[in-house]
Amino acid sequence: MRPPHYAPVSCGCPHPKHPKPKGIPVSANCPAAVVVLAAGEGTRMKSAMPKVLHEICGRSLVGHVLVAARELSPLRLVAVVGHESERVSAHLATIDPEVRTAYQAQQNGTGHAVRMALEELAGAGDSIDGTVVVVCGDTPLLTGATLARLADTHSAEGNAVTVLTAEVPDATGYGRIVRDGASGAVTAIVEHKDATDSQRAIREINSGVFAFDGQLLADALGKVRTDNSQGEEYLTDVLGILREAGHRVGACVADDHREIAGINNRVQLADARRVLNDRLLTEAMLAGVTVVDPSSTWIDATVTVERDAVVHPGTQLQGATHLGEGCEVGPNTRLKDTTVGAGARVDNTVADGAEVGEQASVGPFAYLRPGTRLGLKAKAGTYVEMKNATIGAGTKVPHLSYVGDATIGEQTNIGAASVFVNYDGEAKHHTTVGSHCKTGSDNMFVAPVTIGDGAYTAAGSVITKDVPAGSLAVARGQQRNIEGWVARKRPGSAAAKAAEAASRAPETPAGEG
Ligand code: UD1
Ligand code: CA
Repeated sequence: MRPPHYAPVSCGCPHPKHPKPKGIPVSANCPAAVVVLAAGEGTRMKSAMPKVLHEICGRSLVGHVLVAARELSPLRLVAVVGHESERVSAHLATIDPEVRTAYQAQQNGTGHAVRMALEELAGAGDSIDGTVVVVCGDTPLLTGATLARLADTHSAEGNAVTVLTAEVPDATGYGRIVRDGASGAVTAIVEHKDATDSQRAIREINSGVFAFDGQLLADALGKVRTDNSQGEEYLTDVLGILREAGHRVGACVADDHREIAGINNRVQLADARRVLNDRLLTEAMLAGVTVVDPSSTWIDATVTVERDAVVHPGTQLQGATHLGEGCEVGPNTRLKDTTVGAGARVDNTVADGAEVGEQASVGPFAYLRPGTRLGLKAKAGTYVEMKNATIGAGTKVPHLSYVGDATIGEQTNIGAASVFVNYDGEAKHHTTVGSHCKTGSDNMFVAPVTIGDGAYTAAGSVITKDVPAGSLAVARGQQRNIEGWVARKRPGSAAAKAAEAASRAPETPAGEG
């Protein structure tokens, strides 16, 4: 059973590509457009990578924003790109191919950025009749539920613009929400840099998220000026312009101020990761997963879990990883794009692109690389590495082995310290081992080679030829004992004295050694 919020269901709107997690209130009317602002460089990140591409919990910052925006089922989703636009556009195309981009050549402010998005839509002949929601690409904690609440407030109150606000402990850097003393109505947003001392004392801030009437927004953006401390077109000025023209300006206060945090530097990036990780772990725990130590457990937003899974300390669950019912993972384990079957045990392991079957056992200290598939009750034990290998039900590779490019049948045992020699220096080759085989310790299987069902191989064998079903293969040098060699070649040594003592001692009867 997956937690309900992970299960995609149709949102009920006419757009089949917009699955929506259950339990999130769906706005009655899909917005005409959502505009995501992602053109800035993010100077304070001090990074060669554009700010919105930085990652937390398995998605880029802008990726989280797009997922939340999609929950509104907008008719159009437009991202404004500018700084390193090709790189940002390429990223957007991989995570959400339906996203359109508008190009903002120079970052002349948030108002200018939105103007570029509306011009892009107008140029393509697309209507902006109805609601246009604007979000910043650097607010990864924003949820679809909060966006839906904003859109609902906006339409219920019949506003020209509704701003999402929050009361924050430290408002430094944010635009302040100025309200009318008597009515409490929002009159303006004043940027920190432009604010007076008394305005800076206000703790209600602009989240940078708005719902607008699309046509009124387009008109007002044409009237925004640049006579402010940064010489930019501020989107926030649209509020004052609409209010002065007699339109309704509203506000929707976020329940949790942490949700609207904008990421500007790496300290805020780490804070946001911690908040989102806690949120995801809380959801997993409420869905029936035991997380022994939430403070040392990291989970991506894309991970899915079933009830009674147990996650031990120091575990990272990444990408499309899935934990089956009652499995146990960790401690000190990193699983990426890995499926763990019901009741399986994965201990001190790194796995990437692997499938661990039901009740299978992995580790401690195993490394499963892409294409590893362990069947029911199979085992990849201690210091075992596997790659592109299919291991049948009940088959065990218990100790110190490398299994690469192989297919192994059911109920077979691979002896300790064996290597599937898959690489001849130029190409990789495949090894096939049948069912119910017992291969000896310290075997080299030089691929391509096939071991038939029920076959045995002797310890220390280098298997270069196929082994027929039911045969014993012995492929090693014969042992030769040269008696008295130590006494002749190492006279007087400790070894020689021990050997001499052994020759004088009465023989130990068999069974008493
Ligand atoms: C903005 C708001 C501020 C609010 C804060 C919330 C304005 C004028 N200020 O300030 O009131 O409290 O967000 O986090 O709107 N961007 C562009 N093109 C531009 C400028 C910005 O696409 O020309 C994008 C950035 O990439 C970023 C977002 O807009 O994703 C916000 O820009 P940023 O410079 O971070 O604005 P703040 O100063 O934080
Ligand atoms: Ca910001």
